[in-house]
Amino acid sequence: MTEPLLSTRVNATVAKIRSRLGGLTPTVGLVLGSGLGAFADGLENAAILPYGELPGFPVSRVVGHAGRLVVGALGPGGNGPICAAMQGRVHYYEGHDLAAVTFPIRVLVALGCRTLIVTNAAGGVNRALHPGQLVLLSDHLNLFGASPLRGDNDERLGPRFPDMTHAYAPELRVLARRVALRLGIDLAEGVYAGLSGPAYETPAEVRMLATLGADTCGMSTVPEVIVASHMGARVLGISCVTNMAAGITGEKLSHDEVTETATRVRGEFVALLAGILGELAAEDR
Ligand code: HPA
Repeated sequence: MTEPLLSTRVNATVAKIRSRLGGLTPTVGLVLGSGLGAFADGLENAAILPYGELPGFPVSRVVGHAGRLVVGALGPGGNGPICAAMQGRVHYYEGHDLAAVTFPIRVLVALGCRTLIVTNAAGGVNRALHPGQLVLLSDHLNLFGASPLRGDNDERLGPRFPDMTHAYAPELRVLARRVALRLGIDLAEGVYAGLSGPAYETPAEVRMLATLGADTCGMSTVPEVIVASHMGARVLGISCVTNMAAGITGEKLSHDEVTETATRVRGEFVALLAGILGELAAEDR
């Protein structure tokens, strides 16, 4: 039997999610990176859908990546836009191929999330950054050595050769900068280099990334943004610099440092996201 079209599989999962939402249609998709999963707990009267119940959603084996879709509006009173928040994502380094890694993004966009907010923990490549700094993504470098769009193109989802000129929507960056200024949050802006991992980069690789024009680097986000662009969604990306990339301070990198910094900055990150969602709701009205 031939494999069903990607769009057919996406639509089947969308139908399954809709059947659980009782008429609720999310307009904003959220991918919550390391340390940010708790943001979804602030969504009111939320529908909670474990990835294991959603056909095609890859399930993470990484500790601390809960793996569930939480759909609801941000309080108080739930007057923000209806969000579909991914609490946990799977990474390419876990062994899933990029089509599987990005399948949930396709489902969110097809569900009605024309705006996607992606967050991540990242290493700081630009020496002007510091651990704890939030960075608005202006663009990316795809250094995975692969694309989630490789293979037959399903024209129902998007074009064979999607444009990536405004992959990180300029108007959403303006909105995010405005919110950060109002809240007194220091928000830098820069280019994210996405690599396959799971080893952190070598110091020589980090010097290469700086030469290539990267400001931050990490092991996620880029495939998700390519797929969202393919489907015509607008994307906002924010990194939390959890550590300076290898070789910059001379200290060794550790996953503990990454999670500690992500946890320390969580309050500020959550406030920024809430502020951005508030403005998106105002935009809808
Ligand atoms: N490199 C790659 N991914 C990361 C890093 C890093 O230094 N920090 C957090 N995620």
